Amino acid sequence: MTEVEERIEDMRYEAQDCQLCGLCETRTNVVFGEGNPNAPLVLVGEGPGENEDRTGRPFVGRAGELLNECLLECGITRKHVFITNVVRCRPTAPGDNGKLLNRPPTTDEAEACVRAWLEPILSTIDPKVILCLGGPSANWVIKKGFKIMAERGKFFESRYAPYAIAALHPAYILRQQGEAYDQARATLIADIEAARKKVIEARKEPPRTLF
Ligand code: URA
Repeated sequence: MTEVEERIEDMRYEAQDCQLCGLCETRTNVVFGEGNPNAPLVLVGEGPGENEDRTGRPFVGRAGELLNECLLECGITRKHVFITNVVRCRPTAPGDNGKLLNRPPTTDEAEACVRAWLEPILSTIDPKVILCLGGPSANWVIKKGFKIMAERGKFFESRYAPYAIAALHPAYILRQQGEAYDQARATLIADIEAARKKVIEARKEPPRTLF
């Protein structure tokens, strides 16, 4: 194991007992994140849904399948990247007939999880490029008030990586139909491809150190 892999595994172990926000009371599993901790590209989603909560793995439901397909179109597998989320536990709200629904994390939940886990994960992996999946992720990783429709597909400097770019969230794409679906899916592929190319460019740049 590399030192980075060890640090990530230690953090994963510690996160299993996290009680920093109320989501610990309703979660089945902590969804820490997975993939290659030595990867130059990290993907950040919003938070676990039902399938992720059940399995403890990020992006394993329908949105995850679409993400896998789009990554593969760019020659990328889940082993090439690290995938995590703004929050590590599934936010739920009561729905009809006792079924739990997904909801967005509150600002307090997101803030707690970003400070305790997302920031340390990103600073340990130290990726060249971060690909934010959806506006909420870009809001935490790139800048507050990020406008996903106007600003997706563009590179920004982030506190966590020299380059960060946002793409439409695969769950949003799944809610589109017909031509709108095809167009949205094509933008996700284009944004993944832009991130992939940026990794190659960034690897040629001298390392950004203080001295
Ligand atoms: N949506 C997300 O944002 N993250 C996941 O892990 C799954 C679905």
